[in-house]
Amino acid sequence: MTLKSLDELVQSDRVHRSVYTDERIFDLEMDEMFEKTWVYCGHESQVKAPGDYYTMRIGRQPMVMVRDKSLAIHVLYNRCPHRGVELCGNQSGNTGNAFVCSYHAWSFNLDGKVRAIPLMKGYDGTAFATSDYSSSMVAAEQVDSYRGFVFAKLSKGGPSLLDFLGEAKVAFDDMCDRSPVGEVEVVPVCHRVVQHSNWKFFMENQLDALHPSVTHQSTGVSARKVETRLKATQGSAPLHYHYLSTFASSFDQWDSVQTVNFPHGHGILKAYMGLRPTDPDTVEYESIMKKAYGEEKAEEYLSRSIHHVLIYPYLSVQSPLQQLRCLRPLAANKTLSEIWHFRLKGAPEAIYSRSLWYYNLVNSPATMINADDLENWTKGQWGLESKGGEWVSFHRNHGGDTLKDGVLYSNNGTSEVVMRNQFDAWKSYMQHSFYANK
Ligand code: FES
Ligand SMILES: [Fe+2]
Repeated sequence: MTLKSLDELVQSDRVHRSVYTDERIFDLEMDEMFEKTWVYCGHESQVKAPGDYYTMRIGRQPMVMVRDKSLAIHVLYNRCPHRGVELCGNQSGNTGNAFVCSYHAWSFNLDGKVRAIPLMKGYDGTAFATSDYSSSMVAAEQVDSYRGFVFAKLSKGGPSLLDFLGEAKVAFDDMCDRSPVGEVEVVPVCHRVVQHSNWKFFMENQLDALHPSVTHQSTGVSARKVETRLKATQGSAPLHYHYLSTFASSFDQWDSVQTVNFPHGHGILKAYMGLRPTDPDTVEYESIMKKAYGEEKAEEYLSRSIHHVLIYPYLSVQSPLQQLRCLRPLAANKTLSEIWHFRLKGAPEAIYSRSLWYYNLVNSPATMINADDLENWTKGQWGLESKGGEWVSFHRNHGGDTLKDGVLYSNNGTSEVVMRNQFDAWKSYMQHSFYANK
C-alpha cells in the first residue's frame, strides 16, 4: 500500500470503506499503530503481590504484565524462548517465584531472565548460552505508568508516555482525584466482549453525540417514565434511572454538548449528566473530599466537565464513574473489549455502588445500552463489507469547528470532528509521521 493510496482512502470529510474491512490495512494498523505506540496493559492493582500476572495482547502480540519480588512491574512477551510455547495459559494468576514452561520446564525469573533449564549438560559444546539474551523472555521496549495505570510500548524511541497522553491524561487525573487519597483500585471483575466489527466503530461511537437519542431511545424513554413517576410519587428517584434517562435527551440538547479533540486522536465529551445530586451519601462524600483537599481543590476535582475521555486508538475512560474500556483488536471485523471499573480508595461504599450501577446498566454486555451499540456496529460492518457504496461520510459540520492551539473544539456537539480528528491521527500513524515528528 502506498502513501498516496492512504491519502485517497482517508480524505478530510470521507473515508473509504476498506479501512474497516481490508485485512491488509488491519495488519498495517497493528504494525504501525498498536505495536508501535504506548498501549494500556492494566492497572497496577491487578498485580498486587510478587508473582501476580495479567495477560493481554498488544496488537497481535501475547504479553504478560507481572510484579517481581522488588515490586517492580515488567511487561514481557508471553513466549518461551525454547520452542515458543506461551508461558502463561491463564488470563491472570500468581506464578510464584518463576514462570515455568509447561512443555520442557525451562523456568524464568519474574523479570523474564532464564533461571533454570533441565539437564543443562545437554547444551555442553553447543552454541547455546544462558547469557545470551535469546534464552530469556523478551521484554517490551518501554514500560511506564501514570497514577497506577500501566502502559507498554513495543518499539524503541518515540514520545514518552506523558507526551503520548498529552491533555488526555486528565482521564486518570479525574478518576484518581475523586478519591480522597488520590488513588483507585481495580475491581477484579472484567466483562469481555468480542464485537463483530472493526475497532474504529467503537472509538468513533464513544464521542458520537448524535446517536444516543436514536440508538438508545427505547431505554432512555422508558427510564424517564419511571424516573418521572418516582419523583412525583416519592419525591426522588435513584441516580441510576438518570444514567439511562439522559440517553433520551433531545437532538438539540446533544448538539449543545461539546467535544474537545486533541492531537493524536484523543478527545473528550464534556459532562452532560450532572452527577452531583444532594442525597446524604453524596453530601457525606463531598465533605470527605473537602476535608482531604480543602474547599477549593475539592470543588475543582468534583466539577470537572467530563463524560468520556478517549485515548486513541484503544481506550475509553469514563472517569467520573470510574469506568474504563480497552480494545484489543483481533481482526478487521473482530474486536475484543475489556470492560473494567474501579473503586475510589477512601470513598464511602455508596459512591462505589454508583459506579457498579453504571457498570451493570450501561457498559455490561447484558445491558440494553451496550447491546444496542453492538448491534449497530455489527450491522455497520456488514454494510461496509457490501458493494452497496464505497464511502463513509464524515461531512457533518465539516469546516464548522474551532481550532485553537492545536485543539479542535466542536461548535456543535454532534459535529463529526471527532471522527475527522481520529482519522488525522490514523493517517499520521500509518504514514509513519507520528514518530518522525517527535
Ligand atoms: S517450549 Fe518451553 S521449555 Fe520447551
Ligand atoms: Fe451508544
